Amino acid sequence: MSNGHFGKYGGRYLPEMLIPTLEQLEKTYESAKKDQKFQKEFNNLLKNFAGRPTPLVFAQNLTEKLGGAKIYLKNEGLNHTGAHKITHCIGQALIAKRMGKTRLIAETGAGQHGVATATVAAKFGFSCTIYMGAVDIARQRPNVFLMEQLGAKVVPVLTGSQTLKDAVNAALKDLIENVNDTHYVIGSVLGPHPYPTMNRDFQKIVGQEIKKQTKEFENKLPDYVIACVGGGSNAMGAFYNFLNKKSVQLIGVEAGGKGKKIGDHAVRFSGGSVGVVEGYKSYFLQDSDGQLQKTHSISAGLDYPGIGPELAFLHDKKRVEFVSVSDQETLQAVKTLAHLEGIIPALESAHAVAHAIKLAPKLSKEKIIVVNLSGRGDKDLFILAEAFKDKSFYKFLEDFVKI
Ligand SMILES: Cc1ncc(COP(=O)(O)O)c(C=O)c1O
Repeated sequence: MSNGHFGKYGGRYLPEMLIPTLEQLEKTYESAKKDQKFQKEFNNLLKNFAGRPTPLVFAQNLTEKLGGAKIYLKNEGLNHTGAHKITHCIGQALIAKRMGKTRLIAETGAGQHGVATATVAAKFGFSCTIYMGAVDIARQRPNVFLMEQLGAKVVPVLTGSQTLKDAVNAALKDLIENVNDTHYVIGSVLGPHPYPTMNRDFQKIVGQEIKKQTKEFENKLPDYVIACVGGGSNAMGAFYNFLNKKSVQLIGVEAGGKGKKIGDHAVRFSGGSVGVVEGYKSYFLQDSDGQLQKTHSISAGLDYPGIGPELAFLHDKKRVEFVSVSDQETLQAVKTLAHLEGIIPALESAHAVAHAIKLAPKLSKEKIIVVNLSGRGDKDLFILAEAFKDKSFYKFLEDFVKI
């Protein structure tokens, strides 16, 4: 990697006026990386605010039912705010403080990244503005409520399709207007350099913990690490520490949605092509004019047309294998994990579980699979109730609204 490139991917493709602020971010991050005091403060917050290390759980019942490889679950859902996202938000808040910024902005689709950003803004005393498409606000109202309770201003974006990509553009416009006091918190391992590298470095603790915990349980490395892939932050976090361990197979799971037609899924590696969008070069689901295509996934966090540049590079190098699973397989995986292991995973993470359920019976009993369970399912309550056609839940909502 040089100059923020992973092979031909990555880079920094932005209007000239934003380059100085990204150079400042890169310089500040490079100095923080070498600063013991910064690392100590970051690790202290991960332990005492976010709740790290998260446990590695042996899924004994699931393993016995499938009759093949042993399955372990890295339960990132036990992080504060319910997912791995808090880790890179804490890291970026510390960097913003180091740069003397007083304001955080972010874009959010499902609201998870918005909630994590609003959380660190409250914790560290930043003012906070979150951009969210008006369509997303309508379907993710509970997270809007949470962000507002945390003190953030949520701005509805009324341009374009009124979803995530329009929120990204609104946040970039805000950054151009307020570069002096504002840091843009990007929520995955994507965007212009240095975000993909910086967020991966913050997240790599996940793989370090997996390695240590698997050694404690099994006295060896896992044979497989499986993670879902939206932008790629939980996957890069889980994979990074194993990249040079050839015996560990790394599998990224994309959202197969409801079918193979463009607009029905978010599988960037089949149907996508290489392009430059939102400041970085990678695979995107785009039309021949480079306009982003519509995507679909039952999980909002995987419903995105782009993918982090380091994962694009690892895909081409064949170091990470990519597969996809459908909405239906994902819902079945939520049910299976809830019934057999007492864990309701986030819909994003359930994609990785669904693939493990397919893979484990084909492997011998001494093989070890670690599934990165990036988040817990509380946030998906309304989507799950609708998908499982739970009439009594609808009735509860109707009665609740009347009160
Ligand atoms: C629980 C959870 N997992 C995974 C993702 C996907 O993001 P990434 O690929 O950056 O881990 C999200 C995004 O919102 C999420 O909330």
